Amino acid sequence: MIVLGVDLSCPVIQILIALALVAGLTVVSLLKFYAYISCGYYRGKVRMNGKTVIITGPTGGLGKETAREIAKKGARVILACRNVESGNRTKDELIESTKNENIVVRKLDVSSLKSVREFAQEINRTEQRLDVLIHNAGTAEKSIKMTEDGLETTMATNHFGPFLLTHLLIDLLKRSGPSRVVVVASELYRLCSLNVNQLNPERSWFPLWIYYISKYANIYFTNELAKRLEGTNVTANCLHPGMIDSGIWRNVPVPLNWPLQLIIKGFFKTPAQACHTSVYLACAEEVEGVSGKYFMDCKERGLSSGAMDMNKAKKLWELSEQYVHLKSQDPKI
Ligand SMILES: *[C@@H]1O[C@H](CO)[C@@H](O)[C@H](O)[C@H]1NC(C)=O
Ligand SMILES: *[C@@H]1O[C@H](CO)[C@@H](O)[C@H](O)[C@H]1NC(C)=O
Ligand SMILES: *[C@@H]1O[C@H](CO)[C@@H](O)[C@H](O)[C@H]1NC(C)=O
Repeated sequence: MIVLGVDLSCPVIQILIALALVAGLTVVSLLKFYAYISCGYYRGKVRMNGKTVIITGPTGGLGKETAREIAKKGARVILACRNVESGNRTKDELIESTKNENIVVRKLDVSSLKSVREFAQEINRTEQRLDVLIHNAGTAEKSIKMTEDGLETTMATNHFGPFLLTHLLIDLLKRSGPSRVVVVASELYRLCSLNVNQLNPERSWFPLWIYYISKYANIYFTNELAKRLEGTNVTANCLHPGMIDSGIWRNVPVPLNWPLQLIIKGFFKTPAQACHTSVYLACAEEVEGVSGKYFMDCKERGLSSGAMDMNKAKKLWELSEQYVHLKSQDPKI
């Protein structure tokens, strides 16, 4: 058989291919081992019985694994889901695997300001306390779509919705202190910069880019939130979960996809590995009282100087208040 001008029936070629495969597997195993010892997994044994945790976007990937780890620790876990049916299935699966029955499903479409208000009202009405709010839900839309509120969908889901939700739950968080807000951002914020005058883009030559911008916004939001919460018992931190092997790379065609697979299998995390930093920030004693920081692999990391620009963070905050139509009777942070 001849492939790309190479005769595959030649024994020398066969041996070379076999060697290449063995070398590839060895590299992957070594990388995996390196990742295992260096990835900053959280193995703390702290229990969360009596605590209540809300997690958005909990029905798949990172969110589901985060919810699972927190349920294992005994917390009451509120799964805030856009799709209640899939939330119900997740709940059953988590109860089965963690034996924690204290898991509830609540409807939340974080891209809709109305849904955020309804969700917050229900939580405020039905929950005695809230110890941790994990902003995990995120989307990367391939085209520009505006929500019913006139907000671009990726920004609405990843930034504006969480911004409003935090306001509406802040009193409950304060009453339950010490409590925590955890924001899933991404190291990929470094690929872009954030123009605070374009928080709600109506057109873009590359809509996927808005995802990175929203992750930048997550960092500004966290920094400004932490600053405004100084002197309270509520902390706010953000994190990079790691690059995740989530299957979105599966569509790359075959010869190209081999080196890519090597990188993905070697370097990328599974959702179960990637949830460690979220879980760490939600419960670890080491970060009690720590606020306004950025974490990766369960360790504090530096931000670019642009991301630490507190003037821009403040501006983002003030403009966001307008975009989400914060009302005078809403709590101010
Ligand atoms: C989800 O579960 C709740 C409680 O068991 C049930 O009342 C509700 O009808 C379920 N919703 C869907 C869409 O499956
Ligand atoms: C939460 O409920 C309290 C009363 O129990 C009320 O004063 C407050 O305005 C409510 N907050 C929100 C955001 O609904
Ligand atoms: C923070 O929490 C601690 C422990 O519950 C409490 O003693 C303290 O008064 C709280 N501080 C504020 C500012 O709420």
